Amino acid sequence: MRGYFITFEGGEGAGKTSALAGVADQLIKRGYPVMVTREPGGIKISEKIRDILLDNSNIEMDARTEALLYAAARRQHLVEKVKPALDAGKIVLCDRFIDSSLAYQGYARDLGIENIYQVNQFAIEQFMPDLTLFFDIEPKKGLARIQANQTREQNRLDVEDLSFHQTVYEGYQILKKRFPVRIETIDAEKSLADVIETAYQKILLHINE
Ligand code: TYD
Repeated sequence: MRGYFITFEGGEGAGKTSALAGVADQLIKRGYPVMVTREPGGIKISEKIRDILLDNSNIEMDARTEALLYAAARRQHLVEKVKPALDAGKIVLCDRFIDSSLAYQGYARDLGIENIYQVNQFAIEQFMPDLTLFFDIEPKKGLARIQANQTREQNRLDVEDLSFHQTVYEGYQILKKRFPVRIETIDAEKSLADVIETAYQKILLHINE
C-alpha cells in the first residue's frame, strides 16, 4: 500500500508547525503509521542547504539562487526520505513543500509562479502532494505572533517586511484557485486546539475516502 503525502503550508506565524505536531500525535494515538518531516531540511544534505538559505548573513543571495537551492533541497529530501516512507505505507506530514516555492520565490520574489513550477517539476518529476492544508492567518497577525515568541529565531525570510509577507499571502490565494481540490484552507486564527482538530478531521476524511 502506498501512503499519503500531506503538506502543511502558510505564512510566518500561522502555527502550522505546532498544528503538524498535534495532528501527528492524534494520528499516532489511533495507530496510524506517521512520518513527520520538514522543508527545507529533513535529512543531512537538505539541512545543510537549509543553513545556507536561512543564514541571515547571506544578504547577497540572488533570488534565482534561492529558488534553485530550495528545489535542490526538495529533490534530495523527496528521494531520500519522503518516497521511501510513502512506499512503506506511511502518512507523511511535511512542513512546507512546492507551494512555498511558488508563493515565496514565484510570487513574492517575482520570479513567476509558472517559472518556479517548471524548475520544481525538474526536481520532483510531477510528484505532487495528495493533500495540502493551507493555514490561513492575516500576515500582520502572523508576524505579531512570531515577534511575540522570543524563543523562535528570526531567519533570513522572517526578517522581510510586512509587504513581502502580504505578497506571499496573495501568492497562496492564487495557488488555492489554481489547485482547488488539492489545497484545503484552515482558519489559523482560531485556537491551536481547534486548528489541530480541524486539520485532523480533514486528513481523516481524505485517507478514508
Ligand atoms: P522555517 O523556520 O522552517 O519557517 P516556518 O516555521 O515559517 O516554516 O523557515 C523556512 C523559511 O523558508 C520560511 O520563511 C519559508 C521559506 N521557504 C521558501 O521561501 N521557499 C520554499 O520553497 C520553502 C520550503 C520555504
